[in-house]
This record gives sequence, structure tokens and C-alpha cells, in this order.
Amino acid sequence: MMATQIASSISISFLSCVSLLLVLCFSKNGYALGGGERETLQSHFHTVQVNSLLPASVCSPSTKDKRKGASLKVVHKYGPCSHLHEHSKENAPTVTEILRRDQLRVNSIQSRLRQNSLKESKATTIPANSGRSIGTGNYIVRIGLGTPKKDFTIIFDTGSDFTWTQCQPCLGSCYQQQEPIYDPSLSSTYTNITCSSHQCSQLSSATNLPPRCFTNTCVYGIVYGDSSFSQGFFGSETVTLTPSDVFPNFLFGCGEKNDGLFGGAAGLIGLGRDPLSLVSQTSSKYGNYFSYCLPSTTSASGYLTFGNGGGSSTGSSLQFTPLLSNSKAPSLYFIDIIGIKVSGQTLSISQLVFKTAGSIIDSGTVITRLPPAAYDALKTAFRDQMKQYPMAQSTRLLDTCYDLSRYNSVKIPQISFLFGGNIELPLDTKGILYAINVSQVCLAFAGNMAASNLAIFGNVQQQTLDVVYDVAGGKLGFGSGGCS
Ligand SMILES: *[C@@H]1O[C@H](CO)[C@@H](O)[C@H](O)[C@H]1NC(C)=O
Ligand SMILES: *[C@@H]1O[C@H](CO)[C@@H](O)[C@H](O)[C@H]1NC(C)=O
Repeated sequence: MMATQIASSISISFLSCVSLLLVLCFSKNGYALGGGERETLQSHFHTVQVNSLLPASVCSPSTKDKRKGASLKVVHKYGPCSHLHEHSKENAPTVTEILRRDQLRVNSIQSRLRQNSLKESKATTIPANSGRSIGTGNYIVRIGLGTPKKDFTIIFDTGSDFTWTQCQPCLGSCYQQQEPIYDPSLSSTYTNITCSSHQCSQLSSATNLPPRCFTNTCVYGIVYGDSSFSQGFFGSETVTLTPSDVFPNFLFGCGEKNDGLFGGAAGLIGLGRDPLSLVSQTSSKYGNYFSYCLPSTTSASGYLTFGNGGGSSTGSSLQFTPLLSNSKAPSLYFIDIIGIKVSGQTLSISQLVFKTAGSIIDSGTVITRLPPAAYDALKTAFRDQMKQYPMAQSTRLLDTCYDLSRYNSVKIPQISFLFGGNIELPLDTKGILYAINVSQVCLAFAGNMAASNLAIFGNVQQQTLDVVYDVAGGKLGFGSGGCS
């Protein structure tokens, strides 16, 4: 990823560099499955109230937030706890649209690995428009920016690295957002990064596009898998996570031309492993340690916490699996999936199936993607246990769907994932079924096209879990009951 030579030598006008980026776009997501189901664990089945599978319309934020450290409240971009949609002309996308965008994101992540292997053989060329960056995530937090501080609602994403916000005077164009757009001229702590600086050359690996230069100011551009994009000046600014967690000179993008369905959020926080990610830039305080809980309904809240402030507040015990890295995509969080259990039975899947593909965990991918052989085994076992329910039409992505319109409650098999480090993670019922509507409720997993495609542990399956990224310690922790 040696793009640094190219970096500061190109000088073109801001507008022509702006025109480099275009196209339609979006990415965000999903209706998590609703709350309020009763669960019985006897004989490896869950009993689920069917109406709990549908999105809720009232916000009922979590009350159990006793976390130490810098803890931010997490809500879903399109749920009733988010104030974004009230002010954005953009309506929440349909479930079908969410799944379509999810596939664009996944294609982009998977091509990132293929692309980088091409790159290795061709040494120095950086593709002008590579798929390294991916579609944006679905969960939002509020952070403070500037001096005096103003608060902004921002998407966070473990699958990307670069942090940016829309920025006045929006030389290109800005999309509509909830809060007034950040204006660097009103902040005493904003500084432009110059083209010749070391920081400017770091952009190539964080955005996968070489930086440009405009009157000696470093210009970044980032394009996501769904063609959403942001472009503008590379700057530094004071970021305030909590009143006691303030970071001067944080490197970020002051986005003067941005488009995509960011849902009214002011920008994006990248939580990957690149040196420019928020995790890396705050590592002296937090030691590359963060955790989150993604709420299981659009109407509840979870948390995003930086640092190891005593671990899980719920006292749930964490189980750890090794966090792996892959030189083809060094900023992604690789994990070791080794097997799947359905109703207490380990599926017969050769370990080579997961080894061949490799696996990551990602906060922005909605539906977990599995190697074809693993998905087939899962689907077969699941269908076998669900025989009493009438099947419904498949969606483009999900092929094991049921018509539950005639039931008040259903009995569904437990599903657990087995990870390296000898841990077994039982999924919440919200991580098993994904409802299009009551007459089309689907197994919330999809098979990859090819055996060599990366497996991705997605956010539907992560809901309600404490997920702990101990990056420095090389391990990922899971705990149950982190949020509702
Ligand atoms: C940053 O650079 C741009 C382009 O040169 C310029 O228009 C803007 O005023 C600069 N901002 C600051 C705070 O220096
Ligand atoms: C459920 O969704 C499917 C696919 O979008 C649609 O064909 C069907 O009419 C919907 N059913 C109900 C009851 O809304």
C-alpha cells in the first residue's frame, strides 16, 4: 500500500477533482427484529412471538448504561430513537432496498481482498477507483467537534477507517443533515493539513485513493461500495467524545462535496485498524480497545465505548476468540469461525470450508455471509427443524423464508457459532430470523457465490451482544445481554 509517492505531487483544481467522484448511492440498514419475545431454551428451541419480529415504532432507550470510560449511546439510523429521519427528506429504505445495498457492501469488501492480491503482483499502481472502501454502516452516535464544541450525529463503521463530516462552505454540495453543517471558520482549533505533510501521504491507505492537492491544502476523496462518497479538505480538529475525553489535532475529512444516503447523519467514523482510524488516533488513551452493543430493535439503544473501563457493565462474562489479521486487507477484523450448531447439533462442515474463505466481523454488513458449503448445511438443518411452518417465497438474498401470518408464536431452533479459542456463541433470536413482513420471515443468513469469498459475521447476528475489540491484545470478546 505504498501510495505515498503519488500523494502530494498531483495538483489539480478542486472542482475537477470533485468531478472524479460521481454516481448514485447509499447504504444503510435494517430493521432489526423487534423486542419483547419470550424465550424458552428447553430442548434447543426458542419460542418467539411473531409480532416481535416486526419493527417497533416507539423509542424505548436502554436504561442500563453503567459503563465506565468514554461511552456513547448507539441507536439505529432509521429507528424511532434516531431523530435523523424527522429532518431528512430521505425516507427510511424498504427492507428489500436494505438487502440490495447490503449485497453491494459485501461485494465491495470481497473485492477488496481480490483487488489487493492483484495489486501485489503489479507492485506500484493504485487503482483510481478501487473497491477497498465499502458501503456505510447503520448505527449512529453523537460526538463533539471543534472549539467551541458542537455536537454531530455520525455513523460508525468497523469496516472502514477514515472519519469525515460535511463541512461548510460545501464548495461541491452537501446533502441534507440533521444538525447545522460543521463550519471550520467558526472553530478556533481547525487546521488544514498541507500537501507536503506526512499526514497527507497517510490518506492513501485510509481512503484507498491517493490524496490531491489544492493551493497547498491536502484534498481527500473516499468512495464507498454503494457509490456514496465524500470529498474535501484534510484537516485536524478537536474531537470531544465525552467531557473528559477530548482529543486535539484529530485528523479527519472536512467534506465539501458529499453524497449518498447517509440518512441525515453528519458524517462517518471509521473504526478499522488503519493508522488514521479513530481507534488508532486515540490509542494512547484507549490502547486500541473499544466495544459496542448494537440494539436489537430500531427502537432501543446500545453503546459504543472506547477504552477498557472495566469491561461489560452487565457483568456478563466475556468469551474471547483470537483477532487475526490478513495482509491483503490489514484494516479489517479477521476472526476464526470454525463451526455452527443448530438445535445443539454441530453441523458437519469441514474446517477447510472456513479456512479457505477466511472470515471477518463487520458492524456495517447486515446479514452474515457464509461459504456456500456452510450455508447449505445450515439451511438444510434449519429447514428440517422448521418443517411445520409453511414456506414463503425467497428474496433475492434470503432463500429460506416462512409465512408466519397465521401464528402468534413460533418455535425456532437455536443457532450457535463456534469460534477459535473454543468458544460457543448462542445467537439471539433476532440473529436467526429477519422479517420482510409477517408473511415473509427468513433465515437471516446468506451463502456466498464462491467458496473462496470471505465470510462476514454481520450486524443482525451481533445484536444484543457485548462485542469487545481488544485490538492490542489480539482478541475479540463476546458477551450476551449487552443491550436489548
Ligand atoms: C483550508 O484550505 C482551503 C483551500 O486552500 C481554504 O479555502 C480554507 O480557507 C483553508 N482553511 C483554513 C482554516 O485555513
Ligand atoms: C410481504 O412482502 C412481500 C415481498 O415484498 C409482498 O409480496 C407481500 O405482499 C407482503 N405481504 C404483506 C402481508 O405485506
